Amino acid sequence: MLIQNITQAIGRTPLLEIDPAVSGLKNIRLFAKLENLNPFGSLKDRPALNLLSGELAGIKTQSKTVIESSSGNMAKAMTLICSMNDIPFRIVTNKVQVKEVKLILQLLGAQIDEFPGLSACPDPTDPNNPLAYIERVMAASPGQYFHASQFTNQKNSQAHADTTGPEIFTDAGVMDFLFAGLGTSGSSRGVGQFLKEKNPQLKTIGVVAPKGQHLPGIRSADEMFEVGLFERDFYEQIVESTTNEAIDAMLVLIRKLGVMSGPTGGAQFAAALKYLKSIDGALTEKKNAVFIVCDRTEWYLSFLQKHRPELFELAKRKESVRTVTDNEAKAAPSLSVAEADKWMADSKALVVIDLRGSLAFKAGHVPGSINMPAEGLEDLSEWGVPFSNNHRVLFICPQGDQSRKFAAFFKARGIDCVSLKGGFIAWRDGGKATERSVIKPASKP
Ligand SMILES: Cc1ncc(COP(=O)(O)O)c(C=O)c1O
Repeated sequence: MLIQNITQAIGRTPLLEIDPAVSGLKNIRLFAKLENLNPFGSLKDRPALNLLSGELAGIKTQSKTVIESSSGNMAKAMTLICSMNDIPFRIVTNKVQVKEVKLILQLLGAQIDEFPGLSACPDPTDPNNPLAYIERVMAASPGQYFHASQFTNQKNSQAHADTTGPEIFTDAGVMDFLFAGLGTSGSSRGVGQFLKEKNPQLKTIGVVAPKGQHLPGIRSADEMFEVGLFERDFYEQIVESTTNEAIDAMLVLIRKLGVMSGPTGGAQFAAALKYLKSIDGALTEKKNAVFIVCDRTEWYLSFLQKHRPELFELAKRKESVRTVTDNEAKAAPSLSVAEADKWMADSKALVVIDLRGSLAFKAGHVPGSINMPAEGLEDLSEWGVPFSNNHRVLFICPQGDQSRKFAAFFKARGIDCVSLKGGFIAWRDGGKATERSVIKPASKP
């Protein structure tokens, strides 16, 4: 295939029929749409091109910068398209979740604004969510930015309705089930919409990570905000795949089928097998099902090292806040706002740790508290206990669920600590004192 521009290689990806000896299914043909074989390595190549291609000339003549909210694959695809057109690119996100992707973005000269502690998916109740932040940046510099807005722009899902869906139908005919990870929900909406036109009985099943767990690229169960393209009613069902289930299925794709998939491909494969095995035996006619391998294994070696160090003969996973079980968190000491208020008043060496993001902390926090975004303190907890034994520590997070894990971990290591029930929201809504941070511009020495 001779091409003049790498973007001409985007799309027309293979559809792999999963060997029944691997799937264990008898009455269902299961297919994997290999979006990891796109030139930039993910399903986002299609919408990135669709969102930018018609705009590039205008963006260039007006010397604009493209700005987008993405923590990974969309940022990578857009940065590459912008770089090929000498257009600057700026990313706004909670955190570029995957070290390897951040290195690529830096290699391509993208400007990266990270706000740890924010939700990866724009939370409309949070005035500091990435979309609101982008609006503020654009309002402050009128005419300097182009924001394609992948979370709200129909061109995102349209790219999949015009290409990914038709390719699946052309290769394997009608589908009865579609399993798709939910990020912006552009791919599940686009592919689902097209395949539903071909088979109105199609069941589209959305796949997310459980609450408190994180699979780069898709939402967690506590991030189901109905923003932009995402509409819950579009889905027959929304199911969860844990990090472990996703990694186990990812390893089957790699080792048994030679498909260099990322974790969300594993998550969808795991969800598909769990769902389809529960109905396979009772079927009286053959059915077809498809899931999407969204990106590549190579991006996730550091992710796998963190979650499965034994795969790389690294030492057993260090104990950290991340290894605290749900039961241990449930048993953690926690106080109501009123109790915490009294506990703080009686405490000598009190330390109040606010686990939220820096933007949320700046906007309002418990007077005298210290901001340690959860991800940072999770990393720190792998190296030891950053509190001395005479400290009394109150942990605060947005709603009081995350902070319990920290209280459980440090309590078990001899620190007198508690979690605030209901989190900062309960404190604020309880009419308790809060203060804003006033950050002075750094004065030159
Ligand atoms: C690895 C990965 N899987 C799944 C998705 C979900 O795709 P969508 O945004 O179309 O819902 C994304 C989105 O960025 C992704 O990067």
